[in-house]
Amino acid sequence: MRAAAFTDLIGPEGVSVIERDDPEPGPTEALVDVEACAINRHDLWILEGDSAMVDADDLPFVTGLDVAGVVSETGGEVRGLEPGDRVVLCPNQTCGSCRFCREGPENMCERFSLFHGGLAETARVRADRLVPLPEGMDATTAAAIPTAYMTAYHMLRRAEVGPADLVFVPGATGGVGVAAIQLADVFGAETIGTSSSEAKLERVRELGLDHGIRSTDLEEIRDEVETIGAPDGVINHLGGEFTELGQSVMRRGGTMAICGRTAGGESTIDVTNLFLGHKCIVGSTMGTQDDLRRLVELAADSRLRPEIDRTYALADTDDAFAAMRDRESVGKLVVEP
Ligand SMILES: NC(=O)c1ccc[n+]([C@@H]2O[C@H](COP(=O)([O-])OP(=O)(O)OC[C@H]3O[C@@H](n4cnc5c(N)ncnc54)[C@H](OP(=O)(O)O)[C@@H]3O)[C@@H](O)[C@H]2O)c1
Ligand SMILES: [Zn+2]
Repeated sequence: MRAAAFTDLIGPEGVSVIERDDPEPGPTEALVDVEACAINRHDLWILEGDSAMVDADDLPFVTGLDVAGVVSETGGEVRGLEPGDRVVLCPNQTCGSCRFCREGPENMCERFSLFHGGLAETARVRADRLVPLPEGMDATTAAAIPTAYMTAYHMLRRAEVGPADLVFVPGATGGVGVAAIQLADVFGAETIGTSSSEAKLERVRELGLDHGIRSTDLEEIRDEVETIGAPDGVINHLGGEFTELGQSVMRRGGTMAICGRTAGGESTIDVTNLFLGHKCIVGSTMGTQDDLRRLVELAADSRLRPEIDRTYALADTDDAFAAMRDRESVGKLVVEP
């Protein structure tokens, strides 16, 4: 089978299509003919040599978390899943025995990790991580959902966002950003989002964004947010200076959920503002498989339309990563092996 592998951790130029042996499923595994696999910034970190998870010893490395396609084979102990079933993968990998696996939520598993291997014609996955696709849902739509939408959904819940709340999403045009805007809309909340690009913001307005701020200047963004109102919740996947910004504009008692570090892995916290303002800053990673099931249902009911900017053939996977690096896209980029 063919796979788009990272053969050098130097950015998009380090992606090559390679031949690999066809995988065999273990007793509790399934093989999926991959029709679509969305990419995430997590994969780009790996490709740029900026992830502790993968180094030169692991090359060639096949990434790809968000797999959708058709089951082609199942292991001997798999029940309730047949070749021909259409599925999407929950990329969570959990130990099954720690207290969070026993009592939930599973995304807090003490040995939490993620599936990699979807940027290939066939993926070998844990059968119990497959969620069936509703009738009529195409694989490309399904592949856009897992990482970005599970993460945004969990963050909105961590921030206790509800109807009529005001939610601030710095960087509202990427995978997690667009998902946060769309899901905040489903929750009945009002949204403020930022981008460096007016054209991209315009597209996100069409997807439900209420207040778009085209700026990369933190003081300008601060002034504009303050004119609109004090956000009840901040969905922060950028980190860096955006943490201090989010904290300062947030209302008394508000919550900021943080899941990423695109703008920097270190942030300053104004301690006095935090305690006098009764503010809350929480970390958040992925969501649960049950969240994925709900999100797939929302999409099946057309209450959520996962935003896909472009699709790519497996041989053009390098172009997908270049588009992400160059901040060209709105929503998800999906490879169709
Ligand atoms: N912990 C978790 O479970 C989890 C899960 C998913 C993602 N994440 C993290 O969340 C972040 C977003 O992931 P993603 O896949 O949604 O990425 P993505 O699609 O590439 O996000 C693009 C967004 O980030 C903005 N952006 C890019 N570079 C920036 C910079 N240097 N400064 C400010 N804004 C910048 C873009 O703004 P413009 O519109 O201006 O281009 C755009 O809105 C990443 O840090 C990722 O690792 C974490
Ligand atoms: Zn566990």
